[in-house]
Amino acid sequence: CLTPDLLHLHKLENSIVVVADIFRATSCMVTGLAYGIQSITPVATVEECKVLQDKGYIAAAERNAQKVEGFELDNSPFSYMDERLIGAKVAMTTTNGTLSIAKARPSAVKIMVGAFLNLGALVNQLRSEQYDVLVLCAGWKGRPNLEDTLFAGALAEALQDEFMLMEDSVLMAQRLYQQGKDNLLSFVANSSHVRRLQRLGIQKDIAFSLQTDLYDVVPVLRGGALVSID
Ligand code: MLT
Repeated sequence: CLTPDLLHLHKLENSIVVVADIFRATSCMVTGLAYGIQSITPVATVEECKVLQDKGYIAAAERNAQKVEGFELDNSPFSYMDERLIGAKVAMTTTNGTLSIAKARPSAVKIMVGAFLNLGALVNQLRSEQYDVLVLCAGWKGRPNLEDTLFAGALAEALQDEFMLMEDSVLMAQRLYQQGKDNLLSFVANSSHVRRLQRLGIQKDIAFSLQTDLYDVVPVLRGGALVSID
């Protein structure tokens, strides 16, 4: 599913939904859990995030790629490499990533979080599951984007022997990934969110988030919070 605005076309009753927001929400989630954050509660709105902050959560809020005033954490994976966050409960809202999780939550069998950073671990986990898999690309405000589609393609490429690739959108993503996989960084140059992040001076998150298999955590949603799968 190349954008959450098309999610209503999919039946999720037998599906694990893998949410991907490579720049940068799901890369942050994977990094944060890998660095020892206990849980990350994704919420759709800034207001919900504030409620959790008032209850003692460390709160991360991003809109339009910038930190929302009054919250502790921004949306850079590097902000989650902080030993003060070890064991912490984090609440998070982002423009597209946490919204996608909120949209999938009512009907998915399970929700997992994917990024290039945990691609191999996620692939192994999905191989051991009995369900269909739907990759939900968070995109940007209803539009598909290049980096999330590339990730969907990478996952399709890795799982093609175990799963039937059911939709043309999967084949599109896979073929795109085949074209770009040898140099993802130059392949995404000039894409909309790369340009947006560059305008804001956020360069290093781009290359960081395109690294493959840095971490072996697979975030899964349990009781409303993302935790590392056992
Ligand atoms: C989002 O959820 O839309 C993103 O993670 C935006 C960002 O780069 O901060």
